[in-house]
Amino acid sequence: MKVLVVGNGGREHAIAKKLLESARIDRVFCVPGNGGTATLKGCQNLPLNIDDFQGMERFATVNNISLVVVGPELPLALGIVDYFQQRRFTVFGPTQVGAQIESSKSWAKQLMLEAGIPTPKAALFTDAQKAKAYVAEQGTPIVIKADGLASGKGVTVATNLKMARSAIDTIFRGEFGTDNIRVLVEEYLTGQEVSILALTDGITIEPLLPAQDHKPVGEGDTGANTGGMGAYAPAPIVTPELMDRIQEEILDRTLAALKKRNIDYRGVLYAGLMITPEGEPKVLEFNCRFGDPETQAVLSLLETPLEELIEACCKQRLGEFSHIRWYPGSAVCVVLASGGYPGSYQKGKVISGIEEAEAKGAQVFHAGTQLKNQQLVTDGGRVLGVTATGDTLEQAISKVYAAVDCIEFEGAYCRRDIGRRALASKADKNLV
Ligand code: AMP
Ligand code: GLY
Repeated sequence: MKVLVVGNGGREHAIAKKLLESARIDRVFCVPGNGGTATLKGCQNLPLNIDDFQGMERFATVNNISLVVVGPELPLALGIVDYFQQRRFTVFGPTQVGAQIESSKSWAKQLMLEAGIPTPKAALFTDAQKAKAYVAEQGTPIVIKADGLASGKGVTVATNLKMARSAIDTIFRGEFGTDNIRVLVEEYLTGQEVSILALTDGITIEPLLPAQDHKPVGEGDTGANTGGMGAYAPAPIVTPELMDRIQEEILDRTLAALKKRNIDYRGVLYAGLMITPEGEPKVLEFNCRFGDPETQAVLSLLETPLEELIEACCKQRLGEFSHIRWYPGSAVCVVLASGGYPGSYQKGKVISGIEEAEAKGAQVFHAGTQLKNQQLVTDGGRVLGVTATGDTLEQAISKVYAAVDCIEFEGAYCRRDIGRRALASKADKNLV
């Protein structure tokens, strides 16, 4: 089998590597890929843009591609799945109408309200003054969200009115798109966030291991939000009882609500949840794709061949799997970022120590890297996702940081506390 993977992040490197572990897959092509997929055995990068559907289709036809796996939200929101399905390719991901669950926060909120899915209260505005008046009435902290795709930058947790007003102004200035500008003002919740990535074929929906991301750039969850500075799985806060509630109140209800709208949703449904101090799971957002960096941690523990699950989703055969098999233990992914990220940063810094890191038993997934004159250099904010597994979370954490310490590039930065929150909450409960 030959597979086309669309995207250029750590997530796509992890997907490509996992697919190539299967004897059935002899070649993976990445559009456009990164330095990691360029050097992965059996994998080749294609210099095409992720919205060049025609270019990809030409390549897929000539090269007998049997499966297309889409990583990021942008091509999904642009209808890549509709495009390839119409041309009779097997393609993994929701169609454009289904991808609205991520590309329009107001659409997703409406669906949740109709289906009785637990989610914070929110109001939608098309007028800045009305939004500001509502915020003044509700008080702070409050959450201001741009309605459309904003590469993770469209959400502000406003701790005072000035911040809330300025976030509303930024959205109405057209920072995140100028068409049909809308803002969602949402109740602020406290608690712990969890990422539930679930696979669905439109009939059955099966969660993968629960994971926790670390969005703020600084240790102890301080500083600006990023695309994610690290992740671990499984997240012990999600007990089997809580997972049952998530399945019933969130995943099953969402799939039923999509069906009710005649949407045949296949692919990943990613629920970004807040587990409130009372233990209630509430949906902060849905994504229509695998999470990054959660995928790097979660796939490290997946025993069932990934391509079998993906094919089952595409062909409506997910119900045939009695359960998804996992390796025991925990996985941790620590992101090494360029100094300055998520603000401005420099590119082109030479990276060394990856082999040494892998010799410590870690996998190093590339995100913002490039091969330049046969040398690996930095090419983005999030540069590498160093990932390790262990029998326990503690072991995975020590292994991952031993590997991280082998890697060098000028200005390299990582959080040193990835996974620590789970250890701390274990200690609180006197668990071993
Ligand atoms: P979203 O893209 O909607 O997940 O928002 C990005 C981040 O903003 C989330 O991961 C949370 O950390 C935070 N956030 C979003 N909505 C809320 C909320 N209602 N209450 C508290 N924090 C939130
Ligand atoms: N890790 C957050 C995301 O993938 O959106």
